[in-house]
Amino acid sequence: MKQNVTAVDLPPLVLKPDSERGQALTLRPLTEQDLVDNDRLENELYPHTWSIDDYLVALSDPAEHCYIAYSEGQVVGMGGYEIIKHKGVKHGCIIAVGITKSWQGMGYGRALFRFLIACCEAEGCQALHLEVDDDNIKAQHLYESEGFVFNVLLKDWYGPGSRTLRMTRGSADFSGLHGDPN
Ligand SMILES: CC(C)(COP(=O)(O)OP(=O)(O)OC[C@H]1O[C@@H](n2cnc3c(N)ncnc32)[C@H](O)[C@@H]1OP(=O)(O)O)[C@@H](O)C(=O)NCCC(=O)NCCS
Repeated sequence: MKQNVTAVDLPPLVLKPDSERGQALTLRPLTEQDLVDNDRLENELYPHTWSIDDYLVALSDPAEHCYIAYSEGQVVGMGGYEIIKHKGVKHGCIIAVGITKSWQGMGYGRALFRFLIACCEAEGCQALHLEVDDDNIKAQHLYESEGFVFNVLLKDWYGPGSRTLRMTRGSADFSGLHGDPN
């Protein structure tokens, strides 16, 4: 059930001029011991949350990679990705990027997102995709600025009435991915 525990220090972050914070975040693979802290952050950040049981399933799946970000013992972020094969091409699906509210707007989300992209690329993924609520403008700006483009609107993805954008990076054929109406 345990993943390899290899601490990864993010490189020093370029912070916005109005920020006085300069700590480096440390990322490490999520373990069962982190699930309560992770659940607290999940509930703070997401309207549609994964439960602790969902994370237990993810921890036992070698295709899923979940990370927790912390600083001075405080959990401040989370992120993950899943590796899948679609039409013969290896895809990285970014499944979560989140920074606790009091740490947002200082460059940590971008650093975390870049780390997840780099992990997918290191695993040999030729294409990337993710899903984001159509009203989550902050996250969409981040993804666009890292080269992701709108691919398809998924209706009811996170439950009845929800409108979710799939965004992609890379030149693969993304049609037919889970939830794609085409
Ligand atoms: C999305 C999220 C991870 C961004 O993290 P962050 O640490 O605040 O982001 P950063 O400070 O690294 O900023 C990265 C980019 O995000 C976008 N962004 C950040 N705050 C923004 C705001 N208030 N309005 C619009 N865009 C914003 C910008 O493109 C920004 O780049 P810039 O500073 O060069 O303009 C964070 O807002 C979050 O955790 N949100 C709740 C969880 C969530 O919705 N996750 C995404 C699920 S798909």
